Amino acid sequence: MKKGLFITFEGADGSGKTTQVNKIKTYLEEKGYSVVVTREPGSLELGKRIRDILLNYEGDVSDKCEMFLFLADRAQHVDKLIRPSIENGKIVLCDRYTDSTIAYQGYGREGDIDLLKHLNNIAIDSLTPDLTLLYDVSAQIAQERIGAEKDRMESSGIEFHKKVRNGYLELLKNEPERIKMIDANNSIEKVFEDTKKIIGELIQEKLGA
Ligand code: TYD
Repeated sequence: MKKGLFITFEGADGSGKTTQVNKIKTYLEEKGYSVVVTREPGSLELGKRIRDILLNYEGDVSDKCEMFLFLADRAQHVDKLIRPSIENGKIVLCDRYTDSTIAYQGYGREGDIDLLKHLNNIAIDSLTPDLTLLYDVSAQIAQERIGAEKDRMESSGIEFHKKVRNGYLELLKNEPERIKMIDANNSIEKVFEDTKKIIGELIQEKLGA
């Protein structure tokens, strides 16, 4: 039975969402909630090994191999950490989840979106987030934030970023109930205010607190 809450954080590289995950964790803990912060790829021991391949492997990685690695990491993550934590009444904050696969492997790498949705669903066994925050950032600001040190995914270039961003906006159009967009071009403090407001409304609605 579901007792906690599941919130995911999405956006293109350089959107600043990880900063927000950490700020909201502190904020919720100060209010007395029990919070689990996690991320994809690579939260657990096995996932860290997968993450290392995904972000640091220097050889050629086929698109299909990349897709299955992200999905394998997710399946383990849901079974071993996310679902048990929600069942234990925690608020789970997850930095990237299924929408990243649709935006990056689907729209970015031009994979089959229906197939990706289907495979995602196998990996998560229908564990859909209660809320997904989409941090939308322009390609230019994102590139400035990322700087010169890029990992394998970030090295895919500005055109790739634009495709990923458009993918997220398509997802938003299709699921406006679950996905809420935040303008991540703004200052960290303004973005945090927007984040707190939306999460506060969810907690009020679902936990009545
Ligand atoms: P990470 O360093 O965690 O980036 P960020 O701080 O932006 O989340 O790297 C994760 C990278 O993996 C990022 O470029 C997005 C990509 N990714 C996918 O392509 N598909 C996925 O399913 C997931 C979870 C991440």
